[in-house]
Amino acid sequence: MAGEDPLYERFGHEFQKGDVLFREGETGKEMYVIQSGKVRISMTVRGVEKTLVALGAGEFFGEMSILNNKPRSATATVDEAAKLLVIDPKTFEAMVRGNAEIAVRMIKKLSQRLQEADDQIENLLLRDHNSRVVHFLTHSASRMGKQQPDGVHIDIAVKEIAAKIGLDVEPVNDVINKLVRAKLAHVTELGIAIHDVGKLREFLEFLEMKEKFGDI
Ligand code: CMP
Repeated sequence: MAGEDPLYERFGHEFQKGDVLFREGETGKEMYVIQSGKVRISMTVRGVEKTLVALGAGEFFGEMSILNNKPRSATATVDEAAKLLVIDPKTFEAMVRGNAEIAVRMIKKLSQRLQEADDQIENLLLRDHNSRVVHFLTHSASRMGKQQPDGVHIDIAVKEIAAKIGLDVEPVNDVINKLVRAKLAHVTELGIAIHDVGKLREFLEFLEMKEKFGDI
């Protein structure tokens, strides 16, 4: 039980679905570690709220403001009732200084986030919808895919794919349907399965050539 955990006893707080932990632009005073539940990190771009990422147990957020003394770069909202450790800057510094393992885990997580941001930049540079979706799927298959007998499973909702690559749900669904018809993928209960990632990559290369040279 979380109540028996000494860290939770000192720093633990419970939050309800819909609670806004902080908003983009505010001054940051704490960082958070998720013990259970889900937290959504979002940004408002031209008046439209865009989800950057949904975080779950074991993940942390809100560290940027307390490391760089800059306002919150995004808004954090509880998506599923959550138990969180709320850690002030002094405690955070003491924890990192006292336990190198914490620092190593944070560096690994931050480089993973940077890698994802780089993928997202690359994706946004592609103009064509087909290429954007296929690029996302090939990258996700190698980063978070689970190999099963019928292909590599990527557990992600279409809505989440659309949010990550800045498209509406409808065009993403259209591309997925095309991949299903071409027998390159099928839809699963939790997301999408790619039959042969190599073939999907070849398809992406073909789409990129088409984008570069047009239809010949
Ligand atoms: P901070 O800027 O303090 O507040 C918003 C937090 O959202 C930020 O710290 C990070 O912890 C988190 N965050 C911002 N951008 C991303 C991203 N692209 N992926 C995951 N987490 C992010």
